[in-house]
Amino acid sequence: MRSLMTVTCLVLALGTGARAAEISISCSALGQEYEICKQGVDAWAAKTGNTVRIVSTPNSATERLALYQQLLAAGASDVDVFQIDVVWPGILGEHFIDLKDKAKDQIGQHFPTIIQNNTVDGKLVALPWFADAGLLYVRQDLLDKYGRPMPQTWEDLTETARIIQEGERKAGQKDFWGYVWQGRAYEGLTANALEWVASYGGGTIVDDKGEITINNPKATRALDTASGWVGKITPEGTLNYTEEEARGVFQAGNAAFMRNWPYAWALAQGGDSPIKGKVGIAQLPKGGPDGRNAATLGGQQLAVSKYSKHPEIAADLVLYLTGPEEQKRRAIAGSFNPTIPALFEDADIRKAAPFIGELLTVFTNAVARPAAVTGDNYNKVSSEFFNTTHQVLSGRSAPEPALAGLERDLKRIKRRGWKQ
Ligand code: GLC
Repeated sequence: MRSLMTVTCLVLALGTGARAAEISISCSALGQEYEICKQGVDAWAAKTGNTVRIVSTPNSATERLALYQQLLAAGASDVDVFQIDVVWPGILGEHFIDLKDKAKDQIGQHFPTIIQNNTVDGKLVALPWFADAGLLYVRQDLLDKYGRPMPQTWEDLTETARIIQEGERKAGQKDFWGYVWQGRAYEGLTANALEWVASYGGGTIVDDKGEITINNPKATRALDTASGWVGKITPEGTLNYTEEEARGVFQAGNAAFMRNWPYAWALAQGGDSPIKGKVGIAQLPKGGPDGRNAATLGGQQLAVSKYSKHPEIAADLVLYLTGPEEQKRRAIAGSFNPTIPALFEDADIRKAAPFIGELLTVFTNAVARPAAVTGDNYNKVSSEFFNTTHQVLSGRSAPEPALAGLERDLKRIKRRGWKQ
């Protein structure tokens, strides 16, 4: 049936003089991401008569980057459209075509800060697809059961998680935990740890002038707090969790709190979810009463490889997938946060994912990782940061000497300037 449809579309397209092609796109596959990507891609293929192959990628952002670097360094034309992380334009930008002219009618619809983020040396290397920000997922039914308010600070969260964990275990749920998050040594840990550090006022590792700021008492306090969770309210296994492992525990009903990105909402509230109707979303807590709520800004973009044999057709797919109609569909089906501010007012989206409207300030005030300022060195900076944090969390190093060592390592990377 599908191939018949493809053939029909092909004939129609060829009839109008256009040449149909087969192109490929890399989509990530967290939760239902692959399916939702496929639906969008299929709709475009049916409309244009082209065929699209989806290349799925590893769940860990760090592994995905390594795969892309390999493909792109080899100048491979296997993948035409790349789904890239908000922190990668500086690292990968040289391998993508400039979309400025092709997208001139669409650029103005998106958040200007993301367009700016995706512009490298005057070249628009990718179009925004969805925006992420770290969120606190909460078992509202358990807060009610134990008469606990929504935690405002990490200290509140630690205490409430402990109380609920103790209570649920006494009630027979032996595998119940207080708080799960992303603790594997990969980009996701950088996102989590930056939230802790920034929430205590400890800065953003490297500031926007390029100064290394991470070795400070507030950052020490943040890492100290987080390492105190491990083995107490957070399972040791979290030190190997990416987004999906944390969601697995929370969605099975085995944790009171979870840190994750917006995509987890649609799944937690999905038809077969054991915790459907019991989940709330809040801002991540402040680092003590004088701290701030800090959510790391994440998100994904679509870029066209300059090694593509069909750049025009690939760019057309990118314009379709990042356009308002498709972003609306994805927000409703998968709670992917739009990058088009006008969609935040959309009644259908607000109904499907109420937090998208309610937490607009979380997205607009989210903390950026120091990717723009460190350019193609960002991955090294982030790796040093997540490895150091991982050592502290696993008890192999105390926060203070660990951050002093990190500062030395970052200085070494910076020696010849962040961008060469
Ligand atoms: C999500 C975010 C991305 C982040 C990654 C970390 O995919 O969109 O920005 O780097 O998670 O795991």
